[in-house]
Amino acid sequence: MSKTIYFIANWKMHGNYNSIKEIQKVLNFLKKKTTYGFKKIIFCPPLNLLSYFEKKIRNKLIDFGAQDISKVNLNYGPYTGQLSGKMLKDVGANYVIIGHSEKRILDEDNVTIKKKINSALKNKLKIIFCIGENISQKKMGLSIKILKKQISQSLEKKIVNFDNIIFAYEPIWSIGTGIVPANDYLNKIYKKLNIFLKDKYKVKTPIMLYGGSVTPDNVASLGNISLISGFLIGGASLKAKSFIKIIKNYYI
Ligand code: PGA
Repeated sequence: MSKTIYFIANWKMHGNYNSIKEIQKVLNFLKKKTTYGFKKIIFCPPLNLLSYFEKKIRNKLIDFGAQDISKVNLNYGPYTGQLSGKMLKDVGANYVIIGHSEKRILDEDNVTIKKKINSALKNKLKIIFCIGENISQKKMGLSIKILKKQISQSLEKKIVNFDNIIFAYEPIWSIGTGIVPANDYLNKIYKKLNIFLKDKYKVKTPIMLYGGSVTPDNVASLGNISLISGFLIGGASLKAKSFIKIIKNYYI
């Protein structure tokens, strides 16, 4: 059976109302193609733009996600500065990024991430769950240990539907640096992750993405890693030109 390939655009703290042009160009590209099946394009702009983009773009070829969710598992309440899962759904998000290393550095630990995951699941948001080791952990040979710990401390064992959780492996030393791990290294990591998720969580077919300096130049090589189901793309997703170059070989 063919697997779905995800292309998730993480815009971080970038973009303005004019940036809708970039998404419109991607949509125009997609409309000319016939092979939509088994691919998902998801844009995760800042939330102010998401609500605007979603209304303008609304189309089955492009989906939207948020970059954060409150750990407060309520729809409404006296929580200054928080946005609940219900609110994210209301502005058109179907996905949410949780556990990104840039967020972990600011204010997110594994326990907070666990609360956010549970809140997202309750609100029927699909989760892009980011995990990744830093360079010193990698040098000490601790990568897989760190990844397992990040998962174990944030994910309840009783989650029934793992179709709603997309694991994005993003080595911290690769994000925004232009450094991409060798395929040998990635193959080993994904094999171990796959076994871990199947053994410990009974996930039938884990959905695992790669993120970190994905560009039009390296996407084909990364695509050879059999266990990955797509990419989480930062810098190269901001402009339609480079994003289209990344996705184009997957569409006929
Ligand atoms: P990058 O970011 O593609 O700019 O390295 C990826 C990410 O942080 O999700």
